[in-house]
This record gives sequence, C-alpha cells and structure tokens, in this order.
Amino acid sequence: MFFASCKALELWQRSREGAAPGRGKRALPRSLFREMKGIWAGQIRVGAFGYVGSCQGAENARRCGAMSLEARYPALSDLRHAARRRIPHFVWEYLDSGTGAEATRHRNRTALDNVGLMPSVLHGEFTPDLSTQLFGADFPLPFGIAPVGMSGLMWPDAERLLAKGAATAGMPYTLSTVAAASPEDVAPVLGEHAWFQMYPPRDPEIRRDMLRRAKQAGFGTLVLTVDVPVASRRERQTRSGLTNPPKLTPRLLAQVAMRPAWAMGMAQRGMPHMRMLDAYTQNADKNLPVTAHVGYLLRTSPDWDYVEWLRDAWEGPFVVKGVLRAEDATRLEGLGVDAIWISNHAGRQFDAAPATIEVLPDVRAACALPIIFDSGIEGGLDILRALASGADFIMMGRAWHYALGALGAEGPAYLVEMLRKDLAANMGQLGARTLRDLPAPFTLA
Ligand SMILES: Cc1cc2nc3c(=O)[nH]c(=O)nc-3n(C[C@H](O)[C@H](O)[C@H](O)COP(=O)(O)O)c2cc1C
Repeated sequence: MFFASCKALELWQRSREGAAPGRGKRALPRSLFREMKGIWAGQIRVGAFGYVGSCQGAENARRCGAMSLEARYPALSDLRHAARRRIPHFVWEYLDSGTGAEATRHRNRTALDNVGLMPSVLHGEFTPDLSTQLFGADFPLPFGIAPVGMSGLMWPDAERLLAKGAATAGMPYTLSTVAAASPEDVAPVLGEHAWFQMYPPRDPEIRRDMLRRAKQAGFGTLVLTVDVPVASRRERQTRSGLTNPPKLTPRLLAQVAMRPAWAMGMAQRGMPHMRMLDAYTQNADKNLPVTAHVGYLLRTSPDWDYVEWLRDAWEGPFVVKGVLRAEDATRLEGLGVDAIWISNHAGRQFDAAPATIEVLPDVRAACALPIIFDSGIEGGLDILRALASGADFIMMGRAWHYALGALGAEGPAYLVEMLRKDLAANMGQLGARTLRDLPAPFTLA
C-alpha cells in the first residue's frame, strides 16, 4: 500500500505539472492503473523518502530494489521482527531461544554494548578496506556463517541458500553435522571456503565416514564443537512442543497455518530432518525432543585425546569451537589446532557463562592462534568491537536465519550488504582505512 500511495502521489504531481500533455487530470486513473500493475510485477519500487523513479533494466531494478529493502530493513532488528512474523512460533522458539533464564544470551548484548571505540577525526576521504586473511587465504569480508543445526527448519532450503550466499560473497559457510542438508546436498553450491562442523560421533567408524564424506563434498576446514558435552535443557524450546523431526500436533499445525510462505516451502520439500545422520540412524527413535535428538545418540563428550585423534585424521585447517577459558586455548595451541573459536553457543548451553567479548582479551593474551569469534553479533559495529578486542574473524548464526525468514532467498545477500555498509560507516568514524587500523577498545559505562 505504501508503494502504491507513493506512486499515486508522484503521478498526481506529474499530471499537475503537465507531464502528460493533452491528457490532464482525467488521464490519471488509467496511467495509475498501468503503473500499479508494474508495481505488483516488481518493476517499480520506492525508497525511504518516496518514489525514486522507474526501474528499467537489471542494474536499475537491482538498485531500486535495494533501496526499498534498505528502507524497510535498515537494521538486523528489522529482519528479526519480520522473520518472527513469517516463521511458525515453535520454529521461532528453536531459533531465537537461549537456555535457562537466557541471562548469558542477554549478557552477550550488554557486554558488546560496553565496548567503546574512540572516534578519530580529519582523515580525509577514503573507502575502507574490509578484507582480511585466515589460514593463508584472503577473505573480502571479516565475517561468515556459523553452523546451525536444522537450518532448513527455519526456512525452506536454508542450507543451500546460505551456502550459495556465502559462495557469492566469498565468505565461509559452516555446515552443521545436524543440518537439514547433508554435505552431498550442498556440495554443488559450495564456494571456496566451505567448513564442516562436527559433533563428535562416539563410533570411530562413523567418525571416519563423516570426515570422508565432508572432504569428498568439498569441505576444506573442520570445526569440532566442544561446548555441548551434554544436551542443554532449553526450556523455551521444550515449552513450544517441538520434536525432531517436527511432529505436527494440532497445536503446531495451527501455528503453521498462520505462516503460509513457510508452509508452502515445506510442503514442496517435505519436513526437514538431519540428513547426514540418515546413514547411521536407521533403528533410532526419530521422534525425540530437539534437546535430545538423534544427533545426541551418536555423539560423545570429547576429551583431549579426541582432539588429537581428529587433528591427525583431518588434512586441512582444524578449528575447535566453544572455547571460553584462556588455559584451554593455550593447551589446544600446544596440541596443534589451527584456530580457536570463542563461542558460548549464543547463550544456548550454559546460563552462567560469561559473554564471549568478556573472555576474548584473556584468550588473545594466552595464545597466538587465529581467533574466530561469535555469540551476539548484531551488526558492523559489533564486528569491529570484537576485531578490536583481539578476534581475527567473526561468525554469526541467528542473524542469517533472521534474514532468510524475512526475505527468503534474497536474505543472505541483503544481510551481507547491510553488514558491509555498517562496517564501512563505522570505520569512517574511527578513521580506520583497514581492519588493522582499529583502535584499542575501552570500557564504556
Ligand atoms: C538454532 C541454532 C542452532 C545451532 N546449531 C549449532 C550446531 O549444530 N553446531 C554448532 O557448533 N553450533 C550451533 N549453534 C551455535 C552457532 O554456531 C553459533 O555459535 C551461535 O549461533 C552464534 O551466536 P549468534 O547466533 O548470536 O550469532 C546453533 C545456534 C542456533 C541459534
């Protein structure tokens, strides 16, 4: 309606200025009708402050479309809000919840807000360089996509959409062991930086087979997640009635009925499940709560020997994810891992854990390895805060799913652009031409 109103206003102005000689005001209804058909066909969009012109040609259409999206979703919170209205409630509870009272989840936000960076003036005009290096490779942007189990439940075909988006932007995409797509499913759309995240299988045969499948599908980096030694309780998810695979009770069906775009996509593709595990779980009870799903039946709580075993079994960069203690980072460095991934799993595992940004300086001081960082990142400024505090690369989990929920297939590319602009704007304030020029952080508040 907003689009149509703006266009009507513009046409009305044009007719008053005599832009359609000889036709006068009576011509308005027919031309308005024609133009509105264009609006619905996606040919014309408006920007934040009104109509910005016809979008003829691919480049113009892209530019005008981007302006329209920017007007509607200037921040991640807008994408989150829109996603919530398009994803069924029980799925939303899975995506958005933390564990316990969600204190850790909120602490991530508060602690990031407390990181100050001093602006610097009089640097003249410049375009900031957002590129960085990791594992000897160049990355155009300092962020990527963290592993998320059952992404395909949040939005139809999410894993492939995210892998494609990452490939286009040159970002890393991390596929979870418990994703709704297998390594083979995403192989055709993987880009240069494909990472495979492993929940540690107990059975060495399954372990070897998973590594073989990941390597064969094109994954070059292995991530072992160690902050799920036992299943987290996640009370909000339990309350929502979600099981794995999702069992559509009348209560859940009613929620699905209110989200037609999600429902149509799922109807086309079938209810998602953990596809990589199909090969190993023929006899398992598959209707388990998400907090005790089949993935848990296969996995063990890894120890230091397990890390050594995996390091020796994998050719390529090997990352350990879910580290918060400095002494653990030092010991992992001694074992020869290639990077430490600081994470509290977005506050989903342990509600007395510190915010990741709080432990980052100690971990940085304790080891010389590259540090990958996540949990609570909501925009370019957060990315700069973490980089300035000692991280080398930033990952996000929920944000990509908010983008998918809000915009479907267009979501990942749109979020990349939002983050790129946010980074550039904030680097301008800091006078930072490259990510190496960030100032030392200080504590606000
Ligand atoms: C719905 C959901 C599922 C997740 N599944 C996994 C997983 O399968 N493996 C894993 O290592 N981390 C998993 N994570 C944690 C993410 O990889 C990442 O650490 C976290 O989402 C980062 O915080 P952010 O969402 O605030 O960016 C999951 C997170 C969410 C929100």
